[in-house]
Parts: sequence; C-alpha cells; structure tokens
Amino acid sequence: MSGVKELGYVVYEVSGLADWEHFGVELLGMQLGEKTDDGFTLRTDEKAHRWVITEGPADDLVATGYEVSEEVALDALVAKVRAAGVEVTEGDTALAAARKVERIFVTTDPMGNRVELVTGLADAATPFASKKLLGGFVTGAGGAGHQVLLAHGVSRETYLAFYIDLLGFRISDIIVEELAPGIVADLIFLHCNGRHHTVAFGDMPHPKKTHHFMVEVQDIRDVGMAYDRCMDAKQPFEMTLGMHPNDHMFSFYVFTPSGFSVEYGWGGLIIDDETWEVKTLDRLHSWGHRPSAVVAELLAAAPAPHGEDH
Ligand SMILES: [Fe+2]
Repeated sequence: MSGVKELGYVVYEVSGLADWEHFGVELLGMQLGEKTDDGFTLRTDEKAHRWVITEGPADDLVATGYEVSEEVALDALVAKVRAAGVEVTEGDTALAAARKVERIFVTTDPMGNRVELVTGLADAATPFASKKLLGGFVTGAGGAGHQVLLAHGVSRETYLAFYIDLLGFRISDIIVEELAPGIVADLIFLHCNGRHHTVAFGDMPHPKKTHHFMVEVQDIRDVGMAYDRCMDAKQPFEMTLGMHPNDHMFSFYVFTPSGFSVEYGWGGLIIDDETWEVKTLDRLHSWGHRPSAVVAELLAAAPAPHGEDH
C-alpha cells in the first residue's frame, strides 16, 4: 500500500517555550528529547521525537509528519499526489535531519495545513523514560496519537479527496450532534491503521488550525495522575473526564499554553478494516467531558465545609 501508515510527529510553533516545556514534561509526562536552535523536542516512546516545539507567534500546529512504510511506497504516494495536481516538493537534507527522518516530501492540504510525508523516523539513542508516568504512552503501530483539525469552510468533499483519495485514509465514523438549537457539531473521523482515528475534521468556529492532539497512556492511573498534575498547576481545562462513544477513549481535555487542547486518554478502540462498519453517531460524548464552566458553577454553589463561614 502506498498510503500513510501512521502519524509520526507534529510540529507546533509556540510563543512560550518555557511554559511548553513545563507543560509537556511535568504535566503530560513526556520526555525532553533535545534542545534545538529554536526550541526543543518531546518524546513519548522510543522514537527520537513525537512533538517538535519551535518558537514563533503562531501558537498552533505548523506541520504534521505522516509516515509511509518504505521508500518505494513514498515514491508512489508522491507520484499519486502530483498526478492529482497537488504540489509536492522534496525536503532537503537539513529538513530531513531536523525531523530525524530518512526522506521527506512537503505538501499542503486543502485547509493550508503543511503535510510532511516521510519514511524512517529515527529511534532515540536512549530508551524512553518519563519522570511522571507509571506506564508509557500508547504509540507503536497506531502512531503518535490523533488530532482534530478545523475545516475552516473547506468542503468535506474537498478535504476527503486529499486525505482519502490521495493519502489513503479510511472513514471510521461520523458524529453529528446538535449542541444547541441551530448549532450542530459535525465531525468525520479517519484512520490509517488500527487506531480508531488518526485525524478528524470538523467545521466548528475555532481560531486555530488544530482543536486538539490526543496522547494515550497505557495505565488508566496515569490519566488520573495527569488530571491532578494539571489541576494542581492550575492549567486551564477545556473538558473534565469523560468518554467518547466512537473510539471509547476515557480522557480529559486540557488547554496547552498556546490555547488549543490536548486530549489525555486511555483505552482507545483498535479497529479492523475487515469487520469495521462505518456509522453516524448522534453524540460526541458518552458521558462526562463537561465544560470547565460547569464545574466552576458547581464549586461556587457548594456549601462551605462544616465549621467554616461562607
Ligand atoms: Fe480526540
């Protein structure tokens, strides 16, 4: 197959490097990979990096590295993208070295997201070690995690032509939920391996290119402990603990220092294309995932502890 096999890495441009290092290492439990000329990298497994953090004003996703299984498949994929009239350029050795890949081609999706098609994301010289986690992150054949990107008015037909017809993603499912009268969330979830989804798209109002990146942990206790670390650090939450009906992820959503979110999850569904049936669901959350304002209201309304004055 010439399609993408997994999400290898993401590149974020951030205005606050120190805040991001604290967020990634101390709160999420990632491992500092290395300091670079313009930032640093973060590891979640044996790979050299999974998040590349660079300093700049965007405070957003600036590139996604999708890995292809081997060089011949990469050449075939690049030829297919070019044949569709989409511009692709080969990255030079400096870019390949920065991304720690063997070969790299750069293209752009219909929303203007930079997409890097790569082979051979390198392993780090040392085993993965987190200062915070009891277990590790879930990566392997399912790649680094998943991300939700904003369509920003680009039609579903247009972006699926890129991600499905060219990159080789398959539809997992669709969720359409009326959040309030006249306000409808409509997301489509795509997979390229057993992970229920690697990328999803929605067209809700949002100032960024990305809504969130999901990292998954092996031990459910690490979700709770990360929840506590984020709470103790007063890191703003987007949503409380909850579960999604499609990928069964048990997770919470916390804002990064750049204003988009990280979903921190456990127990994500692995799917098999042979037996998987595409469905349309009517809710984004099975339970929980309440906006933080709901919790703030509850806490504000709580009676004072016994023996204390209001
Ligand atoms: Fe997610």
